[in-house]
Formats: sequence, structure tokens, C-alpha cells
Amino acid sequence: MKSNTSWSCSCFILKQCLLSVLVLTETVVAINLPPNLTIPALIAFGDSIVDTGNNNNIKSIAKCNFQPYGINFQGGIPTGRFCDGRVPTDLIAEEFGIKSLVPAYLDPSLKPEDLLTGVSFASGGSGYDPLTPKLVAVISLEEQLKYFEEYIEKVKNIVGDERKDFILANSLFLLVAGSNDIANTYYVLRARPQYDVDSYTTLMANSTTDIVNKLYGYGVRRIAVFGAPPLGCLPSQRTLAGGLLRECAENYNEAAKLFNSKISKKLDLLHKTLPGIKPVYTNVYDPLLDIIQNPAKYGFGVSNKGCCGTGLIEVGPLCNKITASVCPDLSSRVFWDSYHPTEKTYKVVVSLLISKLVNKFV
Ligand SMILES: *[C@@H]1O[C@H](CO)[C@@H](O)[C@H](O)[C@H]1NC(C)=O
Ligand SMILES: *[C@@H]1O[C@H](CO)[C@@H](O)[C@H](O)[C@H]1NC(C)=O
Repeated sequence: MKSNTSWSCSCFILKQCLLSVLVLTETVVAINLPPNLTIPALIAFGDSIVDTGNNNNIKSIAKCNFQPYGINFQGGIPTGRFCDGRVPTDLIAEEFGIKSLVPAYLDPSLKPEDLLTGVSFASGGSGYDPLTPKLVAVISLEEQLKYFEEYIEKVKNIVGDERKDFILANSLFLLVAGSNDIANTYYVLRARPQYDVDSYTTLMANSTTDIVNKLYGYGVRRIAVFGAPPLGCLPSQRTLAGGLLRECAENYNEAAKLFNSKISKKLDLLHKTLPGIKPVYTNVYDPLLDIIQNPAKYGFGVSNKGCCGTGLIEVGPLCNKITASVCPDLSSRVFWDSYHPTEKTYKVVVSLLISKLVNKFV
């Protein structure tokens, strides 16, 4: 936190003052926030892009709490983050001066005070379509909201009703899902044959609206909803659907863009109909596509293969230290495994979108 002049005068209750001190003891490098912008916590819902280890505690194949995952995490600790290092949940919390690591809600070592600065409810493999989490036995968004209800109760018991309401209204909420619906459920597994791309992306966008509405009902106001990335350019989708040359699967990208245009419109509508809500559609599609198409511009080399194993298909259990070796040039890779960016890529994307997020929440 660079600016610390505003917190002392905003301590209108003692609890809040103690909380500010807790935050200040973290050595986090953050952007310069407007002095009147208070973001007490960061809370995430969704899939592997923002899961910080919830799947470690459930029975599912969608896990990554083993090496080489975490090879760049505090000297090589696999935490259940689907990355070589930290994920956007952590990076965004750090940018907002909250903390540099956001724990998973299901982490058994979670302490009560961790709740006050935020946790992740996300679950790798999950999605907007209720069928998506069932296919890999992970935590659905509906279940994530059930855990959130429990969270609200716990926070209330720690800091009281008034501060609980303040945390809900002022914290930054991330909703990041949709990739597994389009890539896995719709295209690879063809598990929704009764839908075409148009009706399927509508089903997804309806679910986005439903969740934002529910969060609003709990008193949440600042909600960043990430759009889908260019799914056809993920290494595994190139392998599965990009032909012999492993080109970007254009139909996947078109579906991602269609979904993005739908949620962007729906969030605009919610902005007009729900008083006080600040829903922000966050475009990750364009920055990530630019990195993939012009890796050298951002200091990267290879962008069409993951670093783990052959880089063509390994993700989760297939990316393990027994059968998959780590590429020697990780720092020049856009993708860590065949489905997830490296921490370095996430840092670039977050740096490109963070100022827009800040401006929308002031
Ligand atoms: C999406 O929501 C609209 C309006 O609420 C509804 O008419 C439509 O049937 C829904 N579509 C799907 C595919 O769920
Ligand atoms: C913060 O300050 C800016 C500039 O002075 C102002 O435009 C904005 O409305 C303020 N926001 C809040 C939440 O008070």
C-alpha cells in the first residue's frame, strides 16, 4: 500500500482501525489507488483461473496440488493453484493493496481473520452451466454461493452486522467462469447436443445474470465479471480442434466472443436496474489474444504450447512430475500447462486491465 495517509482519519470505529493496521503490515506492492477508494477484501467465484486451492479438499480429478504445479510459488510449493505461481485472484488483491495471497475458503488452515480480507470460493473445472461442474465432480457456482452464505454468517460473528455490511458493499468480487462450459462441456464432450452456440451462450449468460443478482441481494456492489478468453487458442484446444497445424479453433473463439457480448450487455442492463451496483465487464479476451499473437511484444517466446510435458494436452493429473518434464524456458512461455497461462502472463493481463477496474470502482 503506497498511500497510508487516508486510513488514520477513516478509522471511525476501532475495529476498522485494527483492520487497517493488519492490512498495512502486509508488504504488498500496489498501484496508487485514489485515497478515498476503500476495498476491504477480495472475494472470488468461478473456475481454475481464480481457484486458490478449493479442489484440494474435494474428491475430483480436477486437481493440481502436486509438483510441478507451484514451481514458482515460494520456492516450489503446489497449493492447488492451476499455475506455476500465483493466479489472478492473488495478483488483483495485491494490486488493490489487500494482500498478496488469497486463501481458498476450504483451506483447513484458514484463520477467522483471513475471512475479513477475502477468500476464493472458486473451483477448477466449474462453470455457468450446472452440468459443467458435475462432469468433473467439482463445486458448482450454486454451491459456491451456499459457502458464501456461510461466510457471511462467520464474518458477522467476528465483526458484527455493520462491518459485515460494509465488507459486502465495498469489497471487490470477481466472477470468472465460462471457459469450461464452452471448451469442455459444449465442444470437446458435446454434452449439450440440444443447444446450438447461440442458445448455449444464452444459457451461460442467463446464469451470469442470476449470480450477479444473487450477490446483489446479499449486499454486494462491486463485481468484476471476466469474459471468456480466446479459448480456441489454448494449447489443448489447438491440439484437439486446430487441425494438423494446430491453429486457433475459430469456432471456439467465436463462441467466447458471443458469450462476452451477451454478458457485457446484461451487465449494462443490471447497472441500470439495480441501484448502487457497480458491475464491470472485464475483457480478458483481447489482451490475451494479443499476447498469444504477438508474444515477443510482451517478452514471451512460445505461445502455442504449454510448458508442462509435451505442452500439447497435459493439464491437471497429466501434468505431474513423474510423466511430464518442465520446459527449460518457462519464463518465455505464455502457457504453463495446455490450458492455463503462466503467472507471468497473468501479471501482464492484470497490469493491462487493473486501471480500468480501479476507475470503474471509484
Ligand atoms: C434466458 O433468459 C431469458 C429471459 O430471462 C429466457 O427467456 C430464456 O429462455 C433463457 N434462455 C436459456 C437458454 O436459458
Ligand atoms: C473519490 O474521489 C473522486 C475524485 O475526487 C470522486 O470523483 C469520487 O466520486 C470519489 N468516490 C467516492 C466513493 O467517494
